[in-house]
Amino acid sequence: MVSRYVIAIDQGTTSTRCIVFDQRGRLVSVAQREHRQLYPRPGWVEHDALEIWRNVRRIVPRAVAEAGIDASQVVGIGIANQRETCVLWDRRTGEPIGQALVWQDMRADGVVEELAAHADAKDVETRCGLPLATYFSAPKLRWQFAHVPGLRERAERGEILFGTMETWLIWNLTGGVHVTDVTNASRTMLMDLRTLQWSPEQLEFFGIPAGILPEIRSSAEVYGVCSTVLPGVSITAALGDQQAALFGQVCFAPGDAKCTYGTGSFLLLNTGAEVVQSTHGLLSTVGYQIGGEAATFALEGSIAITGSLVQWFRDSLGLISTAPEIETLARTVEDNGGCYIVPAFSGLFAPYWRSEARGVIVGLTSYITKGHLARAVLEATGWQTREVVDAMNADSGLELRTLRVDGGMTSDNLLMQFLADVLDVPVVRPMVAETVSLGAAYAAGLAVGYWADLAALSQNWHRAAQWMPAMAADRRAEEYDNWQRAVERTFGWIKP
Ligand code: G3P
Repeated sequence: MVSRYVIAIDQGTTSTRCIVFDQRGRLVSVAQREHRQLYPRPGWVEHDALEIWRNVRRIVPRAVAEAGIDASQVVGIGIANQRETCVLWDRRTGEPIGQALVWQDMRADGVVEELAAHADAKDVETRCGLPLATYFSAPKLRWQFAHVPGLRERAERGEILFGTMETWLIWNLTGGVHVTDVTNASRTMLMDLRTLQWSPEQLEFFGIPAGILPEIRSSAEVYGVCSTVLPGVSITAALGDQQAALFGQVCFAPGDAKCTYGTGSFLLLNTGAEVVQSTHGLLSTVGYQIGGEAATFALEGSIAITGSLVQWFRDSLGLISTAPEIETLARTVEDNGGCYIVPAFSGLFAPYWRSEARGVIVGLTSYITKGHLARAVLEATGWQTREVVDAMNADSGLELRTLRVDGGMTSDNLLMQFLADVLDVPVVRPMVAETVSLGAAYAAGLAVGYWADLAALSQNWHRAAQWMPAMAADRRAEEYDNWQRAVERTFGWIKP
């Protein structure tokens, strides 16, 4: 019998990957390409959507060739993508209108400030489950409509299409299918979380013409068939990358949680069929929706800067030459020496949502070495996770019992132990660390019956490593207090 496979495309913030998986959820082959990060002004972050599309056209055939298979053996393609990042393009030519604005881009801070003062602002936040922040797509779109000459007229004539990155890729792969999935739509601020449809009130609030928007579909169904790259193969799933990781970690039951440690870190807790409205600075978002089934919701703690703090330590300070060296350097000292780094490089996300905050290093004395700084860099990720776990416990009324982790930083044992210590719960990492791609592949396979149900997927999850809490309670409390005092010093740095 001919073996069959499923393909995931993970369109991330710094690179795009294509992975071929087999029916046991094992990785068969992988191809990857990085794309440029464009920083035209302080606080602005852009991607070239055509460069990303070119990368997809190269890596998909490469991954298929490396797997030694042909397109007829592929049951479907699942796409996971960096969320909120969005692009506008010409419906007729496919030419992007300027660059894609990345989730980290803060050019819309003036838009956010203006809209926050509006009498409807609270209702708008409640309807979409998100706080007004530059992070999400709608403020970025509003900024573009205010600054790109002729854009509104062209959009009103029906010439312009909008998409987050999965929409852009599906449109290009299929030669014109214009769709998004509920998880990605839930990050725009334009979708009503209760109806799972674009909300006329949200569109009016942000001043967005409805005609540019894609159709909202579930996360796992046949959206269309590739007319290029792998002609004839169906695209059968799309999820925001963090929701894909939740799915890949098989967090299918209410109360299951995972945290993915990449450029930033994103902790998602499955809250089942209910939308839980956060009162502690978390986001309410769609976890996934499989075909015609009811959607599963999640609470999310988004942390903007974790892995990228290690990159900054490497590239801007030059204190290490490769990212993994941070662990070696941190192990040259016993503790942080009283030093704390709060990386509010683009303000602070959850649970604070303070765009005017800027980073600080506190507790400096002549005693501090680069080893202490390395510890403080790693500990910043631990404490930021602790803050979102506290918010999550308070919002959900449940105590997190164990945390499933994945992503690049989980290969740092010192950090993983610190995480277990400051959360005071076991931290576990699965065998397949590529949970974003795995989740997209799982959803794509489910859509076409390659896997029968969620139970079949859960059987594929195997624990690879576990870290148990070992820090004394009084030390944890004292360190957390120091961290929180350091965080307070970041507030209000940028004057209104
Ligand atoms: O919300 C932003 C997030 O989806 C980015 O994830 O892994 O591409 O940095 P990543």
